[in-house]
Amino acid sequence: MSVKSPSISVRKASAPSVKVDALVVGVAPGDQEVTLDSGARELDKAFGGRLASTLASLGAKGKAEEVTLLPSPSGVDATLVAAVGLGGEEPGAEALRRAAGAVVRRLAGKADTVAFAVGDGTAESVGALAEGALFGSYAFDRYRTNADKRPAPISAVTVLTGKPRDKAVKAALTRAEAVAAAVNLTRDWVNTAPSDLYPEVFADEAKAAGKRAGLTVEVLDRKALEAKGYGGTLGVGQGSEREPRVVRLSYKPARAKKHLVFVGKGITFDTGGISLKPNEGMLTMKSDMAGAAAVLAAVTAVADLQLPVAVTAWAPMAENMPSGSAQRPSDVLRIYGGKTVEVLNTDAEGRLVLADAIARASEDKPDVIVDVATLTGACMVALGGRTFGIMGNDEDFNSFVRRTAGRAGEEGWPLPIPEGTRESLDSKVADLANVARGRLGGALVAASFLNEFVGEGIRWAHLDIAGPSYNDSAAWGYTPVGGTGSSVRTLVGLAEAAAAGEL
Ligand code: BES
Ligand code: MN
Ligand code: ZN
Repeated sequence: MSVKSPSISVRKASAPSVKVDALVVGVAPGDQEVTLDSGARELDKAFGGRLASTLASLGAKGKAEEVTLLPSPSGVDATLVAAVGLGGEEPGAEALRRAAGAVVRRLAGKADTVAFAVGDGTAESVGALAEGALFGSYAFDRYRTNADKRPAPISAVTVLTGKPRDKAVKAALTRAEAVAAAVNLTRDWVNTAPSDLYPEVFADEAKAAGKRAGLTVEVLDRKALEAKGYGGTLGVGQGSEREPRVVRLSYKPARAKKHLVFVGKGITFDTGGISLKPNEGMLTMKSDMAGAAAVLAAVTAVADLQLPVAVTAWAPMAENMPSGSAQRPSDVLRIYGGKTVEVLNTDAEGRLVLADAIARASEDKPDVIVDVATLTGACMVALGGRTFGIMGNDEDFNSFVRRTAGRAGEEGWPLPIPEGTRESLDSKVADLANVARGRLGGALVAASFLNEFVGEGIRWAHLDIAGPSYNDSAAWGYTPVGGTGSSVRTLVGLAEAAAAGEL
């Protein structure tokens, strides 16, 4: 699927003495020239004290995303020196992640082994660099027969630190590897062509990933969904030759403090159904299962990290196709648990499959439910391509999710579900309709719909990742083109917060 990730290790060594193909140092914007980060200062002697001025003469400013390559002077054992811009003067974890990602992308094909003499060597700094390097060296080659012609990604990364044996440093490395594996698995699933990843295959893959992580796995096929009344998922899936599935992965350690439920939208391809999308609107719709991919991958990471909290991931999967067996605008569905929905637009399908899963998950009375979905174009219009919307039934929890996302290096922004929104979904024949009249506040209307299926007294947050889950333009920082793995880090962060008693 994707190219093998580089190995990651930590070492205590002076920057000039590391024998690697490329030695990475950091530079930040300065008053005159760039300001050298500590690793760069160690190299400065070998450059005769002129590293900053040399970089400046090459146009380096220390900005984020900037990479300047220099041949090594004598006294430096690496072949190449790469100076990466850190952006701010006091780079935080996310600046380090992005810098590491930008530099490993630039070094693909130029270096096989890379050492980082960047940051302060603390667990936080080492973990961020490791994450950025692992995210940034991702490449998806499944369909390329000429992959050997493309620059080869890096195979080994060493992060220099004064305390390579420190427990926290080692834990940060292990964590980075588990999180990166989950992010990159999500990307693989999103990038796979929808002809190769339809509900049955996606469910098999989720099952395999769950088994590898030691999780309890349950897969409901069409017959089981019919028997149990998952009418939303069945309705969306009935137009496709590929039958729907609902997957449940459960991680339940003995000393679990809390129970978190993650629900992810798993539309393996969204044509819109009978309310057919125009061709341009369909081009990225293989990514309409990015929420399901994220929640499934996140729970495997939580298990890998052995966090003392129970996490259940629910992934309703269906392909939204127009056909003689497809649902029609004005059909009425019975969602799991019995509420009826008039389907006025078959392109508002995500909420229908999520409603089943949210209603079912609520029966287990978890402490929180977080759903993740590529739900509305409206949310992209509001927040752009890098920020997910956060909606829910508890403002404090919304803020908590936002802070957790920020700490993990993801951006989410709270949006309201204004009073009166639910009424816009009133139906003339059923309990509610799946769309409101008009296009105003589409993201909020979708959230209000989901809210109807959340069990009484359960804190719930909805992440609309339509924008950040898929990168349609150019790679930046550690974010590749295509599937990004959006929200995986936020979900793992929520589980960590719960484990730390913060929930
Ligand atoms: N999967 C789409 C939302 C989407 C659009 C995600 C663009 C990523 C990029 C969703 O199923 C959808 O079609 N939503 C409709 C809802 C509308 C019919 C109320 C939309 O946003 O137009
Ligand atoms: Mn749709
Ligand atoms: Zn959709």
